[in-house]
Amino acid sequence: MMPPLTGKTIILGVTGSIAAYKAADLVGALRRDGADVFVIMTREATHFIGPMTLQTLSRNPVAVDLWEEHKGWHPGHIELADRADLFLVAPATAHTIACFAHGLAPDLLTSAYLATPAPVMVAPAMNGKMYRHPATEANLRTLRERGHAIVEPEEGMLACGYEGIGRLAQIDAVVAAVHAHVQNSG
Ligand SMILES: Cc1cc2nc3c(=O)[nH]c(=O)nc-3n(C[C@H](O)[C@H](O)[C@H](O)COP(=O)(O)O)c2cc1C
Repeated sequence: MMPPLTGKTIILGVTGSIAAYKAADLVGALRRDGADVFVIMTREATHFIGPMTLQTLSRNPVAVDLWEEHKGWHPGHIELADRADLFLVAPATAHTIACFAHGLAPDLLTSAYLATPAPVMVAPAMNGKMYRHPATEANLRTLRERGHAIVEPEEGMLACGYEGIGRLAQIDAVVAAVHAHVQNSG
């Protein structure tokens, strides 16, 4: 039997959360399930995990900088965003969620978000106080109203030392959400 995500192109946005290292397992799982995964990292994410790690695991180039993309008239990752089956961001910081909600495009990931016609799925990860802040709640509401899928974070011990909501959903739960999305979209 063919792996369930065979033939699907997934853009995986990775942002500057302490949970960014978990993106390595996510890339591995999506690839194992047959997806072609293209990673776009924010500059901040590179403090937490090296682009080379995600490039090796995804077996595709990893893009970070808007200004390094000089493949002619259509920058490569924007072109990719145009034909992706899913635009997934995991982990998604409060900052990137705010950019998405407000249409701000200061970097490649946020620019690709505005450029993609693909369905969007966001897995937030942050300190519980950031997650429960009215600004973040309003931004997530905006994304839900826009039809984006939110993979809810978990309760538990957070890397910042607090106990509470905001820990990135288990990688298995993110992968299950991707499978469900792909099944629903045919
Ligand atoms: C050690 C450390 C851990 C962080 N973890 C998170 C996090 O889990 N979630 C979050 O929203 N911001 C976190 N931040 C703050 C973000 O890195 C910061 O808001 C950054 O501007 C996000 O940029 P980006 O959304 O472009 O990746 C962390 C910062 C540091 C220094």
